[in-house]
Amino acid sequence: MELFGTLVLASIVLGLLFLIFGRDSSRYSKMPPGPTPLPFIGNMLQLDSRALYESFMKLKETYGPVMTVHLGPMRVVVLIGFDAVHEALVQQPDEFAGRAVSPLIMKLTGDFGLIQSNGERWKQIRRFSLSTLRDFGMGKRSIEEWIQEEAKHLTEEFRKTNGSPCDPTIFLSRAVSNVICSIVFGQRFDYQDKNFIELLSLLDANLRLLASPARMLYSMFPVLIKLIPGPFNKMLKNVNEIKRFTSNMISQHKETLVSDSPRDFIDSFLIKMKQESDNPATEFNLENLIITVMDLFTAGTETTSTTLQYGLLLLMKYPHIQEKVQKEIDAVIGRGRAPAMEDRRKMSYTDAVLHETQRFIDLVPLNAFHWTTKDTVFRGYTIPAGTVVSPVLHSVLFDKTKWATPYTFNPGHFLDENGCFKMNPAFMPFSAGKRVCAGEGLAKMELFLFFSTLLQNFSFQPTEEPDKISLTPNSKSFFKLPVPYTFFAIPR
Ligand code: HEM
Repeated sequence: MELFGTLVLASIVLGLLFLIFGRDSSRYSKMPPGPTPLPFIGNMLQLDSRALYESFMKLKETYGPVMTVHLGPMRVVVLIGFDAVHEALVQQPDEFAGRAVSPLIMKLTGDFGLIQSNGERWKQIRRFSLSTLRDFGMGKRSIEEWIQEEAKHLTEEFRKTNGSPCDPTIFLSRAVSNVICSIVFGQRFDYQDKNFIELLSLLDANLRLLASPARMLYSMFPVLIKLIPGPFNKMLKNVNEIKRFTSNMISQHKETLVSDSPRDFIDSFLIKMKQESDNPATEFNLENLIITVMDLFTAGTETTSTTLQYGLLLLMKYPHIQEKVQKEIDAVIGRGRAPAMEDRRKMSYTDAVLHETQRFIDLVPLNAFHWTTKDTVFRGYTIPAGTVVSPVLHSVLFDKTKWATPYTFNPGHFLDENGCFKMNPAFMPFSAGKRVCAGEGLAKMELFLFFSTLLQNFSFQPTEEPDKISLTPNSKSFFKLPVPYTFFAIPR
């Protein structure tokens, strides 16, 4: 009788194990190949967490452009090279449009807003944000005018340096943040404003924590949030402070809102909330507004200002390119008026330098993680719904089959034989497909207007010999950041 009981118990346990693991392994039986994972730590021994994209590039030599890698217990499908990334994001856009939901972010902000949301919520918020960011009539000024005004303030700051050495980091990040402030809050802040500086330092601290190894470890092993809560508590405190700042701004907007004339992004969202108040499926609520505003700051500040910072460094390294851009500015715009977006069509060389800057600096080498929205057949493999996908942007921006000299800074990558601007489909610093950067248009406008205004007004000279300038990034875990530097801004 005892033996019978044991046998029954054993078969129940085996049956359950089969149901749990058997079903799971058959779900993943047609996944792309990859290195064999160890229990718990996965392939971490083969990966450099400070530059995951470099480890992925090496593994590609053995496993090919579509492979499965385990970051701890997390299974990730890695896509390498233009063909694989384009096929997934552009040719199967719906399947690869999901955002990988990290347990850390779920605890910090939940899956609200734009960057971390999925499904119907993401669709509603994304559609609204894109159309509002495109709405050049919003507020009393167009977005182009806000940027032109900010570029003027930035120029004044550089002029105040009076030819002494200057680290541009803080000024560039204040100018770029002010563009988001203008769009979101309908106002810019003085560069010395205490509240503004406080907001920027909170955003900066959070971004650094989110790009740190602690974030990666928390995402792979969520249990660490409980075991080693220090860095998590810091992140949570920052997020709560930013939420408090944003909530105050929203309250002020509510008090002065005129419903048929939105002044900015917050007004437009509040109006939409009112219009949809009878719709039970609406995603236009306060929680989504607060996190979307945070998303615009987080995604729109460091990205654009770092690109400008790296861009100026490149121009000092290659002074002949700086001179050529200035010649074009003088010929098309002159010195007597502010650069405008209309000028860009006539400035092929400057446009090519800006595109090449974005390609070469490879700002977000790994891209953000996606996930599959449904069971997906891709190149003969079956990737189950909810699998994390990493479309590696570095592998596209340096794809040897797409660029003549991938490792050289060469504006010629974007010029045809007549010196006219020529696009390359492998130009993907903003990613591609349905999750493509929501601020691409805005970022391009900022890069052109800030860059051309600065070079119209100054020549930038390094404080060391150009050939000693190092272009190697200081950090490359999530963003590639340049080594801090100083320059002389010489008025022209
Ligand atoms: C040079 C500047 C910028 C670069 C290189 C850049 C790059 C990127 C990349 C690589 C992604 C991930 C795309 C993906 O998941 O496939 C992204 C997403 C995003 N970016 Fe940007 N970005 C820049 C500027 C901006 C600006 C100025 C804004 C906003 C005002 C912005 C807002 C966003 C948002 C909201 C997302 C998430 C989109 C979604 O999940 O649907 N970005 N960006």
